[in-house]
Amino acid sequence: MKQQILNYELATDTLRGLTADPKYLLSKYFYDDAGSAIFQDIMQMPEYYLTDCEFEIFTTYRKQISESFHEGVQAFDLIELGSGDGLKTKILLQFLVNNAVDFRYIPIDISHKANVDLLNSLKSELPVLNVSPKTGDYFQEVEKLNGYSGLRKVFLFLGSNIGNFSDDEIDRFFSQLSTLCHKGDKLLVGFDLKKSPEVIMKAYSDPHGHTRRFNLNHLIRINRELNANFNPENFEHQAVYDPQTGAAKSFLVSTVVQSVYIADLNERIHFDKWEPIFMELSRKFDQSTIERIAAEHGFGVESQFTDKRDYFVNSLWVKK
Ligand code: AVI
Repeated sequence: MKQQILNYELATDTLRGLTADPKYLLSKYFYDDAGSAIFQDIMQMPEYYLTDCEFEIFTTYRKQISESFHEGVQAFDLIELGSGDGLKTKILLQFLVNNAVDFRYIPIDISHKANVDLLNSLKSELPVLNVSPKTGDYFQEVEKLNGYSGLRKVFLFLGSNIGNFSDDEIDRFFSQLSTLCHKGDKLLVGFDLKKSPEVIMKAYSDPHGHTRRFNLNHLIRINRELNANFNPENFEHQAVYDPQTGAAKSFLVSTVVQSVYIADLNERIHFDKWEPIFMELSRKFDQSTIERIAAEHGFGVESQFTDKRDYFVNSLWVKK
């Protein structure tokens, strides 16, 4: 018989979220190996402008961005939080390698498979790159980085991953990073900007079915890892956008009255017809908010790199 070790963090968060009123699940659990693969499909959608924007910014400003990373120092550690397939980062890595810059690349991702794939692709595409991947939760891995010292640290937090955090998480995240940073350490953060609600809705309202699959994969993960019996057919995906707060929110809505049994939690969860589970926040920012967040956490904004349409910004911060 297949033995499975209970994922306590997933168990605790799932119990808390599904017994809350209103119900929610945490979007960090989207990224098991299957979810990471579905996210790749999302990033390929023409409507999902975020990836193209960041790609354009990195292609246009790779020289300026790379120079600012190693300006004034001999060598540095480039630490990417949530590296995924590293597709956009490779633009910068290639430029740094071509210019014989002395740096080590430390990609951190929650998905072991994403890390293995990234390492394999880097070995063949950039064989001289000094790379040491880490698998785990950003916050925990960031804590562990405390041991590193001496070299400038440059953190990458790309793809508007920051938009998936609540205000409290944003505060905790930058507070932790700020504590780990010394004067002159840098941070390049990708923020999706407020824009036409129509453009945002097209990116999140699932024109190709990938976003529905992405959300349902969370329920399938709970079925597999916590021995539950969610029927994904009984849930509809729904995205909404509030232009005032910049919050794009994603829900799974129960299309029937149903009860789901989660054996490992010994818990039966009741759903009313049309009752939603809040699945994800994908927040959109404005420039003044970005500057305020940087200042509140002891960083100065050194440069703002935007795409031609002003949809997205890669904001380069330096620790004061
Ligand atoms: C990873 N993160 C920045 C994506 C986003 O846009 O919030 C996740 C995503 N969810 C639905 N589509 C993409």
